[in-house]
Amino acid sequence: ASKKLWGGRFTGKTDPLMEAFDQSINYDRIMYKADITGSIAYVKAIQKAGIVTPEESELMQSGLSQVLQEWESGSFQVKPGDEDIHTANERRLSELIGSAAGKLHTGRSRNDQIATDFRLWLRSQLDLLLQYLSSLVKTITERASVEIDIIIPGYTHLQRAQPVRWSHFLLNYAFLFQADYKRLQQIYERVNQSPLGCGALAGNPFGVDREFLAAELGFENVIQNSIHGVSDRDYVAEFLFWSSLVMIHISRLAEDLIIYSTAEFGLIKLADAYSTGSSIMPQKKNPDSLELLRGKSGRLFGNMSGFMMTYKGLPTSYNKDLQEDKEPVFDTVSNLSSSLQITNSVIATLHISPDAAKALLTDDMLATDLADYLVRKGVPFRETHHVSGRAVQLAEQRNCQLSQLTLADLQTLHPLFEKDVENVWNFENCVENRQSTGGTSKNCVNKQISILTNWFNSL
Ligand code: ARG
Repeated sequence: ASKKLWGGRFTGKTDPLMEAFDQSINYDRIMYKADITGSIAYVKAIQKAGIVTPEESELMQSGLSQVLQEWESGSFQVKPGDEDIHTANERRLSELIGSAAGKLHTGRSRNDQIATDFRLWLRSQLDLLLQYLSSLVKTITERASVEIDIIIPGYTHLQRAQPVRWSHFLLNYAFLFQADYKRLQQIYERVNQSPLGCGALAGNPFGVDREFLAAELGFENVIQNSIHGVSDRDYVAEFLFWSSLVMIHISRLAEDLIIYSTAEFGLIKLADAYSTGSSIMPQKKNPDSLELLRGKSGRLFGNMSGFMMTYKGLPTSYNKDLQEDKEPVFDTVSNLSSSLQITNSVIATLHISPDAAKALLTDDMLATDLADYLVRKGVPFRETHHVSGRAVQLAEQRNCQLSQLTLADLQTLHPLFEKDVENVWNFENCVENRQSTGGTSKNCVNKQISILTNWFNSL
């Protein structure tokens, strides 16, 4: 028989290539702590169930704590044959405490074990991601508050549309990231369910107290169906989708800032700390941080779609295909964590030029306001839209700014234009006119800032 933990019925050897193909210790070792925490809880549960004596339980728990210490201090030695984190920890436990270690796995399977480890590990990472997100919202909101007076061109179709406050532009992203935070809190609830005690697929025959196990591990609930417990990876799919969505938000912000940092716009400058130079062109300062953020979004999408393809079409219950859920999640967590922190720092340190912002504002962005001027005198908007459009056309023909048309010019287009039309040619008035909730006037932007500030102060 083979010495492997499942070796009893085997006479032949595993092909070394198959061994390498099968192993997961190279990556699932990062869950060492979750694995040991789950095992300590399980020891207590089988003691309660009368499978191990209090003395054995004590020995097993202190042995497991010692294994944990070895991992934490970097002295844990992975040995050939440790195919996964479960095998490695149990092998080491038996070296430390002898045959009592052999009782640890009573009624347990690596199927409920891995499901438990993965949920515990992911849960700990979600806590970090939530922190990164709320601090990003905070950074954006604080910046919006300090720079509320700067007005920039707002774009639709990347064509000049209407002036908006720079803070209004920023807060769009603060609200997107706030929604990401709330979404993750909901996913968290579904991650935080206990599969421990489900066994291989059919349940536990020794009467272990699953509610006790769940409480020991800080899980919200027990998963009610053992097949569901060992094979549900919907929370993985949700997490990977969620991460992709966060990266879409980051990527869109990065794209805006890349455009705004070109010499052609000159609106913002990235801090040196988040830019790099060219090995050949001495003048270059490239927005590599932003480009990587945009690029990473593609990678995280790949992790999501790759996992979905693995997950689809699996027959009921555990299948080894499910081992393929780890690397995409580990890669996503690591890249998303750094992306959120880099985004935060880029926003906190970039420089915006108020002069460049002013220079980018052009009168054609006030054409809607010109139409609105006549609306306030009772003319139907459909008509005033046309009148203003003809004013734009006239200015284009004359090769002048809209505001350079004389009152007489405007009156040829509509008799209700009067001297006070000159108030239209003011970007401050334009943004201040947007007073309804959600608009870009100072009041409205301050209201957004206080909503977000109250939110992150309440966390
Ligand atoms: N490494 C495996 C995984 O990630 C652990 C569970 C193995 N279960 C089994 N029956 N071979 O899914």
